[in-house]
Amino acid sequence: MARIDVDPGRGLFLLSTMRTSHVVRVTSTPEAEDALVGTYTGPLVDLDAAADIAALDVPDWRGFESTLDGREEYPVAGGVRFGQPALAVRHPDGVRSVEWRFAGHRVTDEAGGHTLELDFADAAYPLRVTVAYRVHDGGDVVERWANVTNDGDGAAIELHRFDSGALPLPRRDAYRLSHLFGRWGAETQLQRLPDVAVGETVLTSRRGTTSHQANPWFAIDDGTATETRGEVVSGALAWSGSWRIVVRRTENGRAQVLAGFGHEAFGPYRLAPGETLTTPVFAHLWTDGGFGGASREWHAYARSHVLPRADEVRPVLYNSWEATGFDLDQPSQERLAERAADLGAELFVVDDGWFGSRTSDHAGLGDWHVNRERFPDGLGPLIERVHELGMAFGIWVEPEMVNPDSELYRAHPDWVYHFQNRTRHEMRNQLVLNLARRDVADWIYEQLHRLLAENDIAFVKWDMNRPFTEAGWPGDADNPDRLWLDHVHNLYRVWDRLRTAHPDVAIESCSGGGARIDFGILARADQVWTSDNTDASDRLVIQHGFSQLYPARAMTCWVTDVPNFLTTRDVSLRYRFHAAMTGVLGIGGDLSQWAPTDLAQARELVAEYKRIRTVVQLGTQYRLSAPGTGLTAVQYTSADGAHTVLFAFLEGGRFGERPAPVRLAALDAAARYRVSGDGVEERELSGAALFGHGLPLDLRGDHASVLVHVERV
Ligand code: DGJ
Repeated sequence: MARIDVDPGRGLFLLSTMRTSHVVRVTSTPEAEDALVGTYTGPLVDLDAAADIAALDVPDWRGFESTLDGREEYPVAGGVRFGQPALAVRHPDGVRSVEWRFAGHRVTDEAGGHTLELDFADAAYPLRVTVAYRVHDGGDVVERWANVTNDGDGAAIELHRFDSGALPLPRRDAYRLSHLFGRWGAETQLQRLPDVAVGETVLTSRRGTTSHQANPWFAIDDGTATETRGEVVSGALAWSGSWRIVVRRTENGRAQVLAGFGHEAFGPYRLAPGETLTTPVFAHLWTDGGFGGASREWHAYARSHVLPRADEVRPVLYNSWEATGFDLDQPSQERLAERAADLGAELFVVDDGWFGSRTSDHAGLGDWHVNRERFPDGLGPLIERVHELGMAFGIWVEPEMVNPDSELYRAHPDWVYHFQNRTRHEMRNQLVLNLARRDVADWIYEQLHRLLAENDIAFVKWDMNRPFTEAGWPGDADNPDRLWLDHVHNLYRVWDRLRTAHPDVAIESCSGGGARIDFGILARADQVWTSDNTDASDRLVIQHGFSQLYPARAMTCWVTDVPNFLTTRDVSLRYRFHAAMTGVLGIGGDLSQWAPTDLAQARELVAEYKRIRTVVQLGTQYRLSAPGTGLTAVQYTSADGAHTVLFAFLEGGRFGERPAPVRLAALDAAARYRVSGDGVEERELSGAALFGHGLPLDLRGDHASVLVHVERV
């Protein structure tokens, strides 16, 4: 059970999860402002220990310095502070400083969770801030966010920075930073920087969307954590627009992480009288279970508190994009659907090119009516055929975008982000619709609502294929930069409305592959498209990064054709399937070209996936060996521990060199397990042997793979 304990006399607030505590303290500085200091993040403590720690945590003061820098949970720009503020404001009279007083706290106990709200009010201006925390029963993630209110009735207050919060890290001699960078076709690449620079390290997206280039997540350890043990503090921001995470290491050896929406040069946001603005959730956790332990905590959090319908097992899908590109029509889709159904696919998804004049990426985006040359009687007959074949039907859309060559743009050229006197730069021949406008957001909702109401559609793949440029909204000069936030808020609103109106429809978040994967979108997405790179070997690297915080249950993976269109790599069908079976399996190859032997093998592998998918999607994941080591091995174990599946992939094998036996995790040492599958001799072994010695795998050659079942007897 999680809990919140408060000691008002000592200004202590103790947030406890199942195994960890996070302590914050309200202090009065000699300069007579109140400050919210982060006192402790680590294993469980009680209030007395928290008070001891607070007494030990004395500020570093050596002259020319602040007593607060690096120690606060919500540093404001104002008073004696020189670090990055979480809150920076400018009042109408030009004052650019916050001096606030603690105004009280509230603890709310809800079913399954507990919330602490701490109120601060500016002494001289009508500015009120609430810093909020939530802990859930079960799991070790602490969520936080902030509200800022303009209590005045006069003018707007400019917000120059408004972060979700700051997390002072436990003091260590070194701070190794793990983060995810990427690019199109190579998202979620894990990088570990041995020691964070003294100064500020900025992880950010300035693109209006989460981005391929960086993901709003980090993990920090002192350089000694491994996959299986060691202390790790990890954080993630639940936001799908521009964002910024700053890892600050002070000259005095402290480190602190600030996270919030909006990039560096965004703003100011003009907070109108009476208005309250709420930040996205910044969540963090502490574990001594190493990087693997941190990931499993994130996965459990995502499944318990973020993903909708997380207990539902996702179907095997077929998507026609790589098979047909823009060249599609009803007969060719039906032929693919027949083959897909024969392989065991349960969901058939028509991708780009079914609407308007969308026969290439040059035209038609925005015109959400069926292309009658391609589908003379609408989508109905294809959907019917797909249903006859025993599959559900899904469809691709990209509603936030418009091609200038479209009916929509000709009718509403002012509906896109743009600046007067400036070029409207196209990327992929398209412009971004101004979703910050309520009328545009409503129009988008209506398009989708109509599509879903008129057709029996079970799945929507919502794509977004370019970042923002010229993010302007002429005519909205009084608050021009609020569009960065309002775009995302309205996007969430449209998705939430769609989910309410069409509760049985699942939504996949896609953005040119994986540019919109974050806990904000995952709160309303059933799954995400991980990457346009479907090369199985590259995918193992991308999926390794993805798995640092996102669960396999949300990770869509397709088996596609070889040679791979991006990498030209040619690997076996079994290897491609195995790589895709570690998440939500999909097939994306041109089935009209698959040989009968491939189709037969695929049929078997789809059937095998269906037998294990509950374990993969809803079980617990252990990364036994990472890509880049020669052998990639991932284990999934069912909640009751009875069924484990092990996937192992050999990158390049040499004669006489056999990988070391793979040591399985989390088995009961005293129990016996039946081991079967590829590359192993079928037999019974004890849990102790499977961990203590490990399982020798017969893996040979380049890009060999096995799938092993380990079942408790
Ligand atoms: C980008 C997506 O990531 C692809 O899967 C595909 O849907 C294309 N867009 C279609 O334009």
